[in-house]
Amino acid sequence: MTQPVLGILTLYLNDNKVLEEKKVYEKMIVAAAKMGLDAYVFTPEDVEERSGRIHAMIYSTDTRTWLRRWVRFPNLIYDRCRIQRSKRFEQLLAFRKRYSHLTFLNRPLRNKWTIYRTLWKVPSFREHLPVTRLYQSYEDVSVMLGKFPLLYVKPINGTGGRGILRIEKLKSRSLLLQGRDHKRRIVSPKRISRDNLASELRDWDTNGDKYIVQQGLNIKLPSGRVHDYRMLVQKNGSGEWEVTGCAGRVGPVRSITSNLHGGGSAAPMNSLLRQWVSSEAKIAQIRETAERFGISVAKYLETTYSALCELALDLAIDRGGRIWLLEVNPKPAREVFIRAGEREVYRRAITRPLEYALWVYRQKRSDRSNRTEPRSRPRSADSSQESRLPENASQTNMRSWQSSGWDGD
Ligand SMILES: Nc1ncnc2c1ncn2[C@@H]1O[C@H](COP(=O)(O)OP(=O)(O)O)[C@@H](O)[C@H]1O
Ligand SMILES: [Mg+2]
Repeated sequence: MTQPVLGILTLYLNDNKVLEEKKVYEKMIVAAAKMGLDAYVFTPEDVEERSGRIHAMIYSTDTRTWLRRWVRFPNLIYDRCRIQRSKRFEQLLAFRKRYSHLTFLNRPLRNKWTIYRTLWKVPSFREHLPVTRLYQSYEDVSVMLGKFPLLYVKPINGTGGRGILRIEKLKSRSLLLQGRDHKRRIVSPKRISRDNLASELRDWDTNGDKYIVQQGLNIKLPSGRVHDYRMLVQKNGSGEWEVTGCAGRVGPVRSITSNLHGGGSAAPMNSLLRQWVSSEAKIAQIRETAERFGISVAKYLETTYSALCELALDLAIDRGGRIWLLEVNPKPAREVFIRAGEREVYRRAITRPLEYALWVYRQKRSDRSNRTEPRSRPRSADSSQESRLPENASQTNMRSWQSSGWDGD
């Protein structure tokens, strides 16, 4: 029997075809093979439209090495592409448009500002949303400073803690500015008079992005380091949303962000909450509220936009135990769990999208067999035997792949 095929869509990081998260894909491909799903990695530039083939990266589960092979389109696509400013990203937009009829497990989400406005529409979410405005002029920062003692100014398309400015009100009309530039380098803290804020903001290198101004939460631990939580919400093998895990992140000394790639470290959620919240009962209640909120956000964003298979929520929890949503990440990394020592959560974080992919595949097949009218779509991922890979992406059975729809190099 042929197996369903999952294409993991990603982008090279540079012109040397360097891949992000290669180790994670290796684990995914090995896990997929065990559950009867063939998986490979490809980028839009590996697609040859004329022949309808893809020059994909195959990970051999036998030899544990990567190979490059011509293959047919997959049955399902798992889009792992993150925003980058490059020609490659333009190619991605064209690919998503050109092949929008294929089965994507997840469609692109929106920027921080649009997601904020979307979530704000739901009254029950509002208590979890820090007040946020689009930064259009100095006036926006000034109004927010009138309301809150602490602000975060963040690029709407930022990731990994890049380009973030923290403004803290001190006594006597002075302000403390701290942050990271768009290359994620910590910028030297600066104490300024409020009268100089407008000119400081003018000098802030926005790298051409739009920004939001957000109510800042005081999330400094007794050690003086900031901390927050990363909650991973995924669809499972029955097509339902579930919280896979939630782990804490602690920023390095002098950092205003907790992101792991900015030097942050990970810790189990409870160990951080115990430094922060007094009782175990309160901790259990916080976790329960956070999980319910995470699932509701995922469901709502999926119905508002389009297909999703996973999301990560960056959550801050204040001293009173109130949960605040800092950001929604549509292409979450999973390493926080392994770094927090939660191996089982990490394993599930890798296998869940694969189980979900199999569920989607079976659903589509049963839908198709229940349909009576003839299919008219031209050859594509879901339309033919050709798109399926034979068992196990290994070198030993390479010849059989080629004769069943795979082309050699
Ligand atoms: N409103 C806020 N209050 C306190 N800390 C914040 C706030 N917004 C962001 N941070 C800190 O900065 C980090 C990065 O911000 P985030 O909005 O997640 O952007 P990015 O996409 O760069 O990860 C957060 O993980 C958190 O540590
Ligand atoms: Mg974040």
